[in-house]
Amino acid sequence: MSPVAKTKPFLAPDGVDPDLVPKHTFASGARIPVVGLGTFGSDSVSGDTVAAAVREAATVGYRHFDCASVYGNEHLIGPALKAIQASGVKREDLWITSKLWNDKHAPRDVAASCEQSLRDLQLDYLDLYLVHWPFPNFHPPHCDVTARSPDAKPYIHENYMKTWRAMERLVERGLVKHIGASNMTIPKLKLLLRDAAIKPVCNEMELHPHLQQQDLFDFVRASGLLPIGYCPLGSPGRPERDRTPEDTVDMEDPVIVAIARRLGVHPATVCLKWAIQRGQVPIPFSVKRSNYLANLKAAMLPPLTAADMQAIAGLDRNCRLVKGQVFLWKAGQSWEALWDLDGTITPP
Ligand SMILES: NC(=O)c1ccc[n+]([C@@H]2O[C@H](COP(=O)([O-])OP(=O)(O)OC[C@H]3O[C@@H](n4cnc5c(N)ncnc54)[C@H](OP(=O)(O)O)[C@@H]3O)[C@@H](O)[C@H]2O)c1
Repeated sequence: MSPVAKTKPFLAPDGVDPDLVPKHTFASGARIPVVGLGTFGSDSVSGDTVAAAVREAATVGYRHFDCASVYGNEHLIGPALKAIQASGVKREDLWITSKLWNDKHAPRDVAASCEQSLRDLQLDYLDLYLVHWPFPNFHPPHCDVTARSPDAKPYIHENYMKTWRAMERLVERGLVKHIGASNMTIPKLKLLLRDAAIKPVCNEMELHPHLQQQDLFDFVRASGLLPIGYCPLGSPGRPERDRTPEDTVDMEDPVIVAIARRLGVHPATVCLKWAIQRGQVPIPFSVKRSNYLANLKAAMLPPLTAADMQAIAGLDRNCRLVKGQVFLWKAGQSWEALWDLDGTITPP
């Protein structure tokens, strides 16, 4: 039996000791593991399968899980989290994120949504609660990218701040330890940072070698926020409706493949090593044990060389996979309007 298995009976013998997984420390002193498990089944993986992966992932050393009410599986992940704690993992050693969905931005809905997530996840508190998108626009699950909410609205900072105040109350009530933003741009974050009484600790954003968002990434870090990176592998399992002919494939990029071959690892490992070394926290999704174990092990491998990091920095294709079309609020708009590309908030 390996030393890890002897001292940590809930860990599989081939697992990674969670104490050794590097962590980012927030100003509060709380520490988030630098790799988390995504839990969005992309409409194709059932909630039960995701929940089983969460439970099993804890046995290989995962302690950080990225959840959201809209993923529709928190009520199944809850029993998995309960079982993980029953097997000896302390609550304070877990990092659980959840997110407020877009049709719950009204201040009166924020507490109720958070309380529902807590009930579903069978927790007394969340480590991190995010406003999932800065747009309050509902669309039904599984809808096509051409679907539009009839009362869709643009980003209205005054309204976002009303939501944010309600998020701040959650911290004051002890229901959540930290609050954060997701899918925000530089001009929106500037306003939030100016007006928030309790500052966001992160921006969860799409980040992979073909979408590096360098300006936003730099702004987030310079503002003392943590970039949490979604789709870190280029989301090969995303739904058909989220694919366009222009999309590129990170894990097939010749530079990534060549580094992977040289190191004798999968291209996924190279994407994750680059992400961690660059300073973001990737949250890869997987329900295959060999894959999610390899993804966590990536955090433990020696660093990529400076030349590798530089070569990957040169791979940016500005290839946004989650374009967000369903949040558009006017006919004839292109998805770019959501991302404030000229540095100002797209006017209503
Ligand atoms: N805040 C937001 O708005 C937002 C938006 C999108 C996503 N997210 C979060 O980010 C998470 C990750 O994003 P994502 O799921 O779209 O993309 P991803 O993590 O880039 O890709 C996941 C896909 O990669 C495969 N995979 C995982 N590890 C692998 C490995 N080692 N080798 C080969 N293939 C591997 C998985 O398949 P297998 O299951 O077969 O391994 C799955 O199909 C989500 O689950 C969710 O928690 C947040």
